[in-house]
Amino acid sequence: MRTTAEYKPLEGPQFAILVVGVGQVGSCWLTKFAPTLPPYASVHSTHNSSHPLTTAEIKKLKNRGLTPLVLDLTASEAVSRCYPDWLCAGADIISANKYAGAADTAFYKEVQDALQQCQRQWLYAATVGAGVPIPQVVRECREAGDPVVRVEGNFSGSLTWIFQQYRAGDKLSDWLRKASDAGITEPDPNIDLGGMDVAKKLLIVAREAGWDFDLADADIQSLVSAPPSMVSAPSSLDEGFEAWRVGHYPQARRFCYIGRLEADGEGGVTARAALEPVAEDSVYAGLAPERAYFRVWTAQCPAGTITVEGPGSGLEATAGAVHKDILKAMAHYC
Ligand SMILES: NC(=O)c1ccc[n+]([C@@H]2O[C@H](COP(=O)([O-])OP(=O)(O)OC[C@H]3O[C@@H](n4cnc5c(N)ncnc54)[C@H](OP(=O)(O)O)[C@@H]3O)[C@@H](O)[C@H]2O)c1
Repeated sequence: MRTTAEYKPLEGPQFAILVVGVGQVGSCWLTKFAPTLPPYASVHSTHNSSHPLTTAEIKKLKNRGLTPLVLDLTASEAVSRCYPDWLCAGADIISANKYAGAADTAFYKEVQDALQQCQRQWLYAATVGAGVPIPQVVRECREAGDPVVRVEGNFSGSLTWIFQQYRAGDKLSDWLRKASDAGITEPDPNIDLGGMDVAKKLLIVAREAGWDFDLADADIQSLVSAPPSMVSAPSSLDEGFEAWRVGHYPQARRFCYIGRLEADGEGGVTARAALEPVAEDSVYAGLAPERAYFRVWTAQCPAGTITVEGPGSGLEATAGAVHKDILKAMAHYC
């Protein structure tokens, strides 16, 4: 890591990167991607819960003529609530954290207002699809005047990883533990199993399409039947899941957790996600555990679909998406 005192006097803007959250994604980015930063950008500081980033620190960098880029690589709502202040202190923000993108409409609007008023950037490709640019595809269709009418895909990297390997009759808790050991689940795996991670991603993509909805109105299947959580009671998770499977799809061998967004034609949108049986010869059954597959339908081409497939989960794909956003944010100034 270089200190700001070591910045070379180069022509053009120089970027000071402030990394908030040095967990799995943060460590991966620092190890694999930070060393490839161009000479006009440098990691200025790293932050965690005991050493939080302050607005004063951003202002100090700005006053020194540097362009601060804040990376939010936490899963913290408290961190996301700082965005308006950080933007107006002069930072651009790059998020892997989904909280702000999927926040209530009032706070989301507050962030959008701060972006406008303070002329800053907020990029968040890593929040949905990791290495698959699904938010960008949806946004570009809208910006090109071809509104999106429907989106479908396996939005959850962790549930895809689990269910591409699970076969009917397996213990779900065994696969969940393996996913957690591989660093694929959220810090709290109940967020993945409860479907809330997918619900947030659906909301982020819906906003790219120009839609909005209340998370409480989304029809999201939870695979956790009831508290206590699987973390404290894996056998209750297995019993509840097996009862659901046998009750609904006794013949099915393969499953995929699929999210769907659809415009209702009257200005509203329906958001749904559920674990669905998939045929052995379907696209979803053929995906490798870390792959994501999305389909997008637009108004001008209702019969055809845009399909996007790629690395949809994993630390490197996520850190790589963060890195692309950093390069994109810097390119804006050059
Ligand atoms: N893991 C993946 O494959 C993956 C994939 C896609 C997206 N994501 C997203 O990426 C984000 C990070 O995931 P992760 O797996 O790297 O999480 P993680 O390993 O749990 O790391 C989270 C980090 O955030 C820090 N943190 C928490 N509260 C903070 C605060 N108030 N101020 C500053 N730092 C704070 C933690 O520091 P302390 O230890 O000090 O609390 C920790 O360093 C999440 O939003 C996740 O949804 C992850």
